[in-house]
Amino acid sequence: MSSRVPVRVTVNGQPHEVQVEPRLLLVHLLRDELGLTGTHVGCDTSNCGACTVHLDGEAVKSCTVLAVQADGAAVTTVEGLADGDTLHPLQEAFWDEHGLQCGYCTPGMIMAAADLLRRNPNPSEEEVRHGLEGNLCRCTGYHNIVRAVLAAAKGIEAGTWAPPPPAREGVEAAEELASESLGA
Ligand code: FES
Ligand code: FES
Repeated sequence: MSSRVPVRVTVNGQPHEVQVEPRLLLVHLLRDELGLTGTHVGCDTSNCGACTVHLDGEAVKSCTVLAVQADGAAVTTVEGLADGDTLHPLQEAFWDEHGLQCGYCTPGMIMAAADLLRRNPNPSEEEVRHGLEGNLCRCTGYHNIVRAVLAAAKGIEAGTWAPPPPAREGVEAAEELASESLGA
């Protein structure tokens, strides 16, 4: 019988406490235990980036992180970006610029792009291509993906939206949300 260990994690502002096998990967915690299937699995080699989420505000490939390593952390998945039926500006930009074909890579691309724009809100095309090089698109739609990220960056410049906050602020915001939700 395998022993399970407790993991407390805040995902998209919602606190969770789950019992997991020590070997469980974060991507499987998100998909199989929490039902957040927007985070995809596209490889078994840590190469494709389809599983990218934010862990304490930083983009990580969730197939390279054990669920137990997320204990006490705040995770944001692609499901945490939209505001109800209102798409996040990055999602809008991908839509407007035709930055997806089959869409399999898209959640990871968007989460990686959000992290890129947090660190560099006004990237050059070359910087976007470099920043997304850990994410693969099998439909080879890179050109429009880069256009989408650059279009989203224009929105930051125009003040219509702001990228996700730095890691510590992200954690604190998630903790605040979690305590509000627990106290509700
Ligand atoms: Fe994580 Fe491919 S599934 S990098
Ligand atoms: Fe199909 Fe990228 S849109 S893998």
